[in-house]
Amino acid sequence: MSESKQRIAIFGAGYVGLVSGVCYAELGHDVVVRDILPEKIEALERGEAPIYEPGLGDLLERNRERLRFTLEVGEAIEDADFVYIAVGTPPTYSGDADLSAVWTVIDELPEIARRIVVVMKSTVPVGTGGRVRDRLAARGLGHVGYVSNPEFLAEGTAVRDFMHPDRIVVGAFSAEDADAVAALHRRIEAPVLRCDVASAEMIKLASNAALMARISFINEIANVCEVTGADVVKVAEGVGLDRRLGPHFLRAGIGFGGSCFPKDSLALKQLAANSGYHFQLLNAVIEVNELQKRRVIAKLQRHLGPLRGKSVALLGLAFKPGTDDMREAPSIVLAGRLLAEGADVRAWDPVADGSGLHGVERAQSVEAALAGADAAVIVTEWPALAAVDWAAVAPAMRTPVLIDGRNMLDPAAMREAGFRYEGIGRAAE
Ligand SMILES: NC(=O)c1ccc[n+]([C@@H]2O[C@H](COP(=O)([O-])OP(=O)(O)OC[C@H]3O[C@@H](n4cnc5c(N)ncnc54)[C@H](O)[C@@H]3O)[C@@H](O)[C@H]2O)c1
Repeated sequence: MSESKQRIAIFGAGYVGLVSGVCYAELGHDVVVRDILPEKIEALERGEAPIYEPGLGDLLERNRERLRFTLEVGEAIEDADFVYIAVGTPPTYSGDADLSAVWTVIDELPEIARRIVVVMKSTVPVGTGGRVRDRLAARGLGHVGYVSNPEFLAEGTAVRDFMHPDRIVVGAFSAEDADAVAALHRRIEAPVLRCDVASAEMIKLASNAALMARISFINEIANVCEVTGADVVKVAEGVGLDRRLGPHFLRAGIGFGGSCFPKDSLALKQLAANSGYHFQLLNAVIEVNELQKRRVIAKLQRHLGPLRGKSVALLGLAFKPGTDDMREAPSIVLAGRLLAEGADVRAWDPVADGSGLHGVERAQSVEAALAGADAAVIVTEWPALAAVDWAAVAPAMRTPVLIDGRNMLDPAAMREAGFRYEGIGRAAE
């Protein structure tokens, strides 16, 4: 192993940078993770993970010898063979990806005489690699290599996804750089797809767009199920058994959120538009998702009438279970719509702190959230919700209306437990 041990600097200690850093250490490499937030680096130096991600704490602990954390660019780059960029690329007001953090890292790179390879893990528009190469060359750093190595991990299963990926994509300008980056992953069993830089950048955006398209597709099927009397859970099962389609990403619900799908779909839409192409299908995927989040309000109104003064409990705030990430969570749109309708909103989540949610009362337990509520909405399918004794909590609600936004509970059992239960795309009571 020692002959293949490399020195890696990672810029960005977020969900991707930190998980990648810890996993590269687990693979035997020496890793320095650099961030600009002192509180993150201080927590990491104390051995604490600044984000909630299953398995991350154990790996941090186990690989302490091969991991360092710093605020200093010089210290990160000093001995590095590879400089990974894993900073955020959020949307700008126009919907294009904001690459300012990426450019900051490129401009922060010191004069380096030796040959290092800059590796892009952040999700960036097609063409970014070419622009980075030009910017480096303009600074006299034309000898620095560049590889696009997009990341496909999902929050909540990030460590497992990194160590057992479906594929490793390596897009490079030179075979030598591609070989070097592919070799970093030698101990991971997965196909390595080599290609040009632009195609690697597009593989990431296209993969996300395809996943989102499946979600919006099944959500529209669910909406048609509701008006025609079919059950989308059975429908999805039947569709998913087709080998040409497979079962993944066919769970109807209240729409996708998170730090990637919404911003990456917007970025791809704008990338196409800026290049003179109107990406109709992607526009529809985005619009269906926006409407899907709002349909819950109409369901509540059907049960409760006007929502003014009604108390609604949101069960789950994070954009999905297994993470504390609130970025673009459907709960934010739901809470906003409910408050605008004049409802009182309370919320429970086992890990997300609900930062950014104003006017929402926090409950410490599911039971506390439900007590006296006129209705509850399952927003995030936290496993803890499957373990609730629903029959015991139903009488504590003012009216036992439950909208299961993730179809995680059994409709018959919930009605048996005393609820006016409604899922997404399933026959109503
Ligand atoms: N979160 C995911 O599930 C996921 C999955 C695949 C790809 N991605 C992509 O990976 C990238 C990072 O996403 P994330 O969720 O980890 O973001 P994040 O916001 O959690 O982390 C980004 C980190 O970069 C730090 N940073 C900013 N400027 C810096 C600089 N100059 N030097 C060092 N650090 C700096 C920030 O302080 C922050 O800690 C994005 O492009 C995202 O689209 C994310």
